[in-house]
Amino acid sequence: MIIKNLSSKGFRNFSGLEFSPAENMNVIYGDNAHGKTNLLEAIWLFCGAKSFRGAKDSELIGFGQQKAVNSCDFIFGEVEKNAKIIIEDKRKAELNGKMLSSASKLAGNFYAIVFSPTDLNLVNDGPAVRRRFLDTAIGQLYPIYNEKLRSYMKAVNQRNTILRDLKFHSDMEFLLDDFEASLAVNIKDILKYRYRYVEILKEILPEIYGGISGEREILDIEYSSPISKDLPVENIAEILKLSRKEDFITGNTSVGPHRDDLDLCLNGAKVKNFGSQGQKRSVCLALKLSEAKVLKKITGEYPIALLDDVMSELDQNRQNFILNHIKDWQVFITCCDPSNIKGLKNGTVFEMKGGNFCNITVK
Ligand SMILES: Nc1ncnc2c1ncn2[C@@H]1O[C@H](COP(=O)(O)OP(=O)(O)O)[C@@H](O)[C@H]1O
Ligand SMILES: [Mg+2]
Repeated sequence: MIIKNLSSKGFRNFSGLEFSPAENMNVIYGDNAHGKTNLLEAIWLFCGAKSFRGAKDSELIGFGQQKAVNSCDFIFGEVEKNAKIIIEDKRKAELNGKMLSSASKLAGNFYAIVFSPTDLNLVNDGPAVRRRFLDTAIGQLYPIYNEKLRSYMKAVNQRNTILRDLKFHSDMEFLLDDFEASLAVNIKDILKYRYRYVEILKEILPEIYGGISGEREILDIEYSSPISKDLPVENIAEILKLSRKEDFITGNTSVGPHRDDLDLCLNGAKVKNFGSQGQKRSVCLALKLSEAKVLKKITGEYPIALLDDVMSELDQNRQNFILNHIKDWQVFITCCDPSNIKGLKNGTVFEMKGGNFCNITVK
């Protein structure tokens, strides 16, 4: 994947930005609050996903503007394409001049990974962030997974409602039998994607970790769930039934993919409990870069890498790894401290001021 041109009008603080990035490393440099993250956000939206900052669509329209229009020429599968996103009262998207039924349908037509400072908590935070990592990665590869996940979450919420209602109508417990039988099918389906994704990640992660950290420790990853990979649907339904007693009390479903986690170990010891700060950061970075490699392995296409403001959080060795070892793909890095990019050997630096570029330097 390579972005050739991007234009943005009425999006955040862009009144009419025109951007023709280099095919390799692009550094977006500038003081705070000038629009660096806005630019990465604009690129990310072409994946068909929501803003990685969790912003609502209405917040993306420039102050005092009626609508935002972003247009991107890019190469995908060696073919030049164009995607357009129009954010008005609703978000709409076009691909090669044809309106899509919804903007989320851009998924699968444009690939990117995003790494921002919150991702440096991928190891330290609770399981929800690691599940989100998995779900974003899988959803980009297989857009249908997003729909499956939505219906699974809806089914979990329905089971919770039934559980809570049973407090008043305990004679209705039989309702759960059929419901759990179909929920078990959903669970099996989601787990199939998750286990398979982690299997592929396992092949890629250790090498990338070694490259970043320069260490010889072995990084291993496992999908952690009380429901094992090959467990038949009937047994999953049985597990749900067995958990009813506990779930009645809490009113929540205690087993299923919405409770699972990823285990990350260095030489067999859990990184979360035993890793140093530096090791944890390397693992987070390795996870994100592996996400890109998995995409490449499965689709044949390298995603765009969007690295937002992470350089100042990393030591010089890790900075240099990012600046000079991510080859063969297009990278966008934002930073505001010039010392963070002094190790850059090959790339273009775009200085951003007030939502526009004021300086472009090729190294
Ligand atoms: N909807 C919007 N309309 C106009 N300006 C906006 C909007 N949303 C954010 N901004 C402006 O964008 C700037 C922040 O951009 P950002 O990309 O986060 O900065 P940074 O360069 O630090 O990454 C701020 O000046 C903010 O006022
Ligand atoms: Mg920023």
